[in-house]
Amino acid sequence: MNFHEQIKQGIPSVLPEAKPYPADANRAPKRKDILSSDEKQLAVRNALRYFPKEWHQELAVEFAQELKDFGRIYMYRFKPIYYMTARPITDYPAKSQQAAAIMLMVDNNLDPAVAQHPEELITYGGNGAVFQNWAQYLLAMKYLSEMENDQTLHLYSGHPMGLFPSSVDAPRVVVTNGMMIPNYSQPDDWEKFNALGVTQYGQMTAGSFMYIGPQGIVHGTTITVMNAFRKVLNKGENSQGKIFLTAGLGGMSGAQPKAGNIAKCITVCAEVNANAATKRHQQGWVDELIDNMDDLVARVRQAQANEEVVSIAYIGNVVNVWEAFFEHDIFVHLGSDQTSLHNPWSGGYYPVDISVEESNRLIRQEPEVFKEKVQSTLRRHADAINKHTARGTYFFDYGNAFLLEASRAGGDVMSENGIDFKYSSYVQDILGPMCFDYGFGPFRWVCASGNPEDLDKTDAIASRVLNKIMRESPEEIQQQMQDNITWIDDAKQNKLVVGSQARILYADAQGRMEIAKAFNDAINSGEIGPVVLGRDHHDVSGTDSPYRETSNIYDGSRFTADMAIHNVIGDSFRGATWVSIHNGGGVGWGEVTNGGFGMLLDGTSAAERRLKSMLLFDVNNGIARRSWARNEEANFAIKREMERTPKLKVTLANVVEDEILNNLSF
Ligand SMILES: NC(=O)c1ccc[n+]([C@@H]2O[C@H](COP(=O)([O-])OP(=O)(O)OC[C@H]3O[C@@H](n4cnc5c(N)ncnc54)[C@H](O)[C@@H]3O)[C@@H](O)[C@H]2O)c1
Repeated sequence: MNFHEQIKQGIPSVLPEAKPYPADANRAPKRKDILSSDEKQLAVRNALRYFPKEWHQELAVEFAQELKDFGRIYMYRFKPIYYMTARPITDYPAKSQQAAAIMLMVDNNLDPAVAQHPEELITYGGNGAVFQNWAQYLLAMKYLSEMENDQTLHLYSGHPMGLFPSSVDAPRVVVTNGMMIPNYSQPDDWEKFNALGVTQYGQMTAGSFMYIGPQGIVHGTTITVMNAFRKVLNKGENSQGKIFLTAGLGGMSGAQPKAGNIAKCITVCAEVNANAATKRHQQGWVDELIDNMDDLVARVRQAQANEEVVSIAYIGNVVNVWEAFFEHDIFVHLGSDQTSLHNPWSGGYYPVDISVEESNRLIRQEPEVFKEKVQSTLRRHADAINKHTARGTYFFDYGNAFLLEASRAGGDVMSENGIDFKYSSYVQDILGPMCFDYGFGPFRWVCASGNPEDLDKTDAIASRVLNKIMRESPEEIQQQMQDNITWIDDAKQNKLVVGSQARILYADAQGRMEIAKAFNDAINSGEIGPVVLGRDHHDVSGTDSPYRETSNIYDGSRFTADMAIHNVIGDSFRGATWVSIHNGGGVGWGEVTNGGFGMLLDGTSAAERRLKSMLLFDVNNGIARRSWARNEEANFAIKREMERTPKLKVTLANVVEDEILNNLSF
């Protein structure tokens, strides 16, 4: 059977042979054994719904074994035999070009070059799923191949409920991932209902088919590090020869040294796992490996003296580096941390003074002892950072729950009021006020032809558009514009394309709309093939997350999720090709509601109408909310947008004098 025939058949008519697990695959961790015997029976009963009765006896035994061995039923036997990768859009069997664009994005998120655990349909973050099992993939692709432009496919946490009649202006796919009744949104609820096969953790861009490999995180980290330096440097000073000290060379944290090099500083990144550090070194993401503290101190002094741009991985515990740099009087300009503290008790954060092997043994055999060691390390970690910040280091939390866990461990990280942390998060200080409140966020696109020359042309178009806009931009946003022009001009040489021909940059509503319009014109004139637009969910309007994306909202509404819900609904009737809304992502199940969209540009006037309508809302919804929360930068941005767009009328906040409130007695 050729590729078209395989896609069009969906669940095969002949039971495929059971296959051995591929030897070189990176297997997902075994999931928690959480179901009772009755629930395990229910999980198998649920899985068998996808298949004809004649296969039930054989598959029931196999699926029960998968549940036992891996904690989930992935239905490995049904994984297609063709190579999973984003093919050119014209290679997909489809009646609707929009549907073909979605198929391309689905396959990209499952490409072994892109996905973390491709056999288990996990794209990133350990649990960020595209589908729960291979039957869902097969059915979804079949539906997409049959779909016409007046139908919509509804996906419930990966399960294709079916094609429903809709209209040409409706989304072709509506995705929900992990949507729960709020009282059933604790981490173990995910374990249970995912094991039953009725929900999944879509992370941010895995379950919405919008992940584009490491490029997204490198760009976001670069923007953060550059702007963090701006906060601490005097006018006229640059970052060369200045130190950024952090930890973690794993999935996302591995972007830090690469970003540090682009931001032109000395990055010292501690990593306890020698394999992770070596892998990043081999990939060229970090320049040098050092496993001895004396050598590290000497090398850093030399780099400071020569004002070098260099990234150094220290193989060892980050706490030792903070302490040694204090003793040796090495001044750290920027400090942060990207160990996996969202997962502190199962190996996300390694205690100091014991080996990784011993830690792993304690996790398995003496979890309470391990927990104590993590907590005492966190207290030591906080003390060491405090000594540096007393000397002038700027420390920020990188959304990994460092401050939260350090505070729970009794570390000295609380401010005097006993409510807030001593240090801000990267969104409170940097991305929130400097980017999101002005509408700047991670806009991205994929050239659906798969042709690298198309990507070069889109880079050039984006640069041209941003340069034009920058000439007329107010001072408040000039810096962001310039950073992104520099990024896009250097993007090709940074060699960050993995999988589909994709690009990311931070742009505001005007930038996104004008770039998209210029792409659509270029498609219309035949200069380039079709383009898929999208964005990370970690953006201005897409995500409500009280300790991350909306941590710089101070009116009490950061614990609400109205913005993310309005965003997905609003995008869906303004022309998105697909929309998604997720529980979980980054900070964990139950901690965030996040959504995104995809939009196919095909060069038509209908695409132009849609992009203008949807992108305007997709950014300004969040700016309006941020402005209502009294964020000055957002107030500035929304007023500017209202001048540009007469039909936009947003409720503005009146700011009360503190004195009036201070005189009240309660
Ligand atoms: N807000 C954001 O945009 C953002 C971006 C990236 C990552 N994060 C957060 O950062 C964390 C890391 O993400 P990841 O994908 O890289 O995780 P990961 O688990 O792949 O990597 C973390 C690394 O830290 C290392 N490590 C653990 N304890 C250490 C210690 N004491 N000293 C030195 N190294 C240590 C581990 O060996 C591991 O390689 C997560 O909590 C993630 O949610 C947030």
